[in-house]
Parts: sequence; C-alpha cells; structure tokens
Amino acid sequence: MFINRKTAIILALASVTTVAALTSMAPQPAVEKPQNLKVLPKNLTDRQIHQIMHEWAVSLGVRCDFCHVANADGKGLDFPNDSKPEKEMARHMFKMMNKINKKYFEAGKDSLGMVQHTGINCYTCHRGDSHPETKIPEMKRGPGGPPPGGPGGPGGPPPGGQGGPQKQ
Ligand code: HEC
Ligand code: HEC
Repeated sequence: MFINRKTAIILALASVTTVAALTSMAPQPAVEKPQNLKVLPKNLTDRQIHQIMHEWAVSLGVRCDFCHVANADGKGLDFPNDSKPEKEMARHMFKMMNKINKKYFEAGKDSLGMVQHTGINCYTCHRGDSHPETKIPEMKRGPGGPPPGGPGGPGGPPPGGQGGPQKQ
C-alpha cells in the first residue's frame, strides 16, 4: 500500500509538472525574436524594437527601407539583413550617442537596459534630415550699425542690483 501511495504521489506530481510544461509550451502569440542585434539590448520585445525604429525613422525623416533591404521576393523588408551601409552607420551613431550621453550628460540605463537620452538623441542633430549639414554657414554681415543690445537697449545690463551680492 505504501509503495502505491508513494507512486500515486509521484504520478500526481509528475502530471502537475507535465501540465505546467505543456502550458508554457502552449502556442504563444507570434512574437518574433530579434535575430541580429549588435547594439540594442537583446531582451527587447518586438514591440519595443519597433518603437525605437520608429523614433530613428522620424528623427532622420526616412522610412524603414532607408536602412533595411527588401526581401528577395520583393515582399516586405529583411530586417536582420546587414547589407545596407546605412544600417551599419546607424549602429555607429547609436554607440556615439550613448557614449556622449554617458560621458557628458551623466546618463544611466533605463528599465530596458537602454542608455537614457539625458543629453542628446538622434533628433538633436538630425532634425528630420538623414544627412545633417556639417558645413558651417558663411557669416552674413549686415549693412553696418551697432550690434543689438547696446547700453539701455533690450539685452543690455540688468537694472540695478537690489539685494544682489554686495562687494565689501
Ligand atoms: C536609421 C536606420 C534604421 C531605420 C530607419 C530603421 N531601422 Fe530597423 N534597425 C536598424 C539597425 C541598425 C538595427 C540593428 C540594431 C542592432 O544591431 O542592435 C535594426 C534592427 C531592426 C529589427 C530587428 C531585426 C533582427 O531580427 O535582428 C527590426 C524588426 C527593425 N529594425 C524594424 C524596423 C522598422 C519596422 C523600421 C521602420 C519603422 C526600421 N527598422 C527603421 C536601423 C534602422
Ligand atoms: C551628434 C550629432 C548626431 C547624432 C546624435 C546622431 N547623428 Fe547620425 N549623423 C550625424 C552627422 C553629422 C551625419 C553625417 C555624417 C557625414 O557627413 O559623414 C550623420 C549621418 C547619419 C547616417 C548616414 C546618413 C547617410 O546619408 O548615409 C545615419 C544612418 C545616421 N546618421 C543615423 C543616426 C541615428 C539612428 C542616430 C541616433 C541613434 C543618429 N544618427 C544620431 C550626426 C548625428
């Protein structure tokens, strides 16, 4: 009898484990695992990746196909594929951005493991332009006259120092 009871308990436990295992293997909503992440945190969900991608696209004023090559059959884009140089450039830019934020804007990491945008993001430089201008514009000289903000004018020194720090 003892053996039987023990066996029964083991069987019961085993079936619980089996049910648990089956449940966790139950078909999940089609979540595609990212296949080729080199700079983004690997644990991001598809949804989170799409959100970041959308931010990059609008910051540069481009569509997804600016960085992602089309599938061989012409239907849709082959996102993991690295053959467009713009994609590699974007990785380079992402690393640069993180470095600047960490080093000069005391950025930590957010809950996703992404370096926070405490200082700059793609839009700070790109402003909706995939190729921001690196040439400094010519200085345009006006027809003479004193610069704005002379004494007493707007931009002049602030009015008298009431309550300001007094020199001894
Ligand atoms: C400015 C370039 C750029 C644009 C625009 C862009 N992507 Fe990406 N995308 C990348 C880079 C770079 C990676 C790889 C990131 C890494 O290495 O961690 C990537 C990765 C992905 C991945 C993961 C692929 C995998 O399985 O490895 C998906 C999905 C994706 N992008 C979708 C999109 C969608 C959708 C859009 C348009 C809304 C878009 N991307 C726009 C550069 C871009
Ligand atoms: C500090 C300013 C700055 C930031 C921040 C920045 N970029 Fe750039 N990016 C540039 C400049 C400048 C160029 C043009 C470089 C050149 O002329 O060689 C450029 C070029 C690029 C290119 C190549 C475009 C082309 O015409 O081939 C891509 C792609 C790109 N950036 C993506 C990004 C993404 C994605 C981000 C955010 C993760 C980002 N950049 C953040 C300044 C910046």
